[in-house]
Amino acid sequence: MPPKNRIPRHIAIVMDGNGRWARRQKRPRFWGHKRGVERVRSTVEGCIDLGVEALTLFAFSTENWRRPEEEVSFLMDLFMSSLKREVKRLHKNGIRLRVIGDKSGFSEKLQATIAEAEELTKDNSRLSLNIAANYGGRWDITEATRTLCHQVANGTLAPEQITEEILHEQVTLSDLPDPELFIRTGGEKRVSNFLLWQMAYCEFYFSDLFWPEFDRQALDLAVSSFEGRQRRFGRTGDQLLEEED
Ligand code: IPE
Ligand code: IPE
Ligand code: MG
Repeated sequence: MPPKNRIPRHIAIVMDGNGRWARRQKRPRFWGHKRGVERVRSTVEGCIDLGVEALTLFAFSTENWRRPEEEVSFLMDLFMSSLKREVKRLHKNGIRLRVIGDKSGFSEKLQATIAEAEELTKDNSRLSLNIAANYGGRWDITEATRTLCHQVANGTLAPEQITEEILHEQVTLSDLPDPELFIRTGGEKRVSNFLLWQMAYCEFYFSDLFWPEFDRQALDLAVSSFEGRQRRFGRTGDQLLEEED
């Protein structure tokens, strides 16, 4: 296992490839989504094992509403049933669950189930698990901007006071360290409007495995790829070596 300081504090994952994985075994797409949920469980366990502080999973994007109606409604039902089934286990394991995204797009029942799960687990601190649902990075930044505009309009904030830090406070997950490792399964090499603001200095890792195939070994591989990288944050490699001495 890599030394503790080389473990990413926050991992963000685009869980992609459920549909193609199912098609490859001549099964309908929804089969792949169901199997994908099992991978969420094993990835959460793996992150706890490794000592990761936060895990953010992309479950449904603001663009995924464009899918066929039956697939969208299957995904909503799966989200609801998985939440109901898993919440006690999450709580028992000391996991804090949050859903990030525009929750007003969900049914009232689903919104209530999310609120209950968030309330039950809010004081847990072993792992912060964030599910991005009806989430878009541009939506996130737009909402943060709106909040600041309200503050300016009601006189509690002057436009000159707006800094990166002030805007940062308003985007989702600002209480957590920014994601340090981004993983996308399924072979595509794109961000698909995930955590745009939060990933400014994130390390990227792409896996050709489909999400239902992403097992503990695959997670370890992604984390060891992070371990070997030199994160320069604008400085030179020599500067970093000098600091280490
Ligand atoms: C990711 O798998 C899950 C969601 C977007 C909900 P996909 O459903 O995108 O699977 P592919 O990319 O079509 O294989
Ligand atoms: C991104 O996957 C969103 C999720 C994994 C939930 P998509 O499969 O929807 O991404 P695109 O549309 O191919 O970029
Ligand atoms: Mg996809």
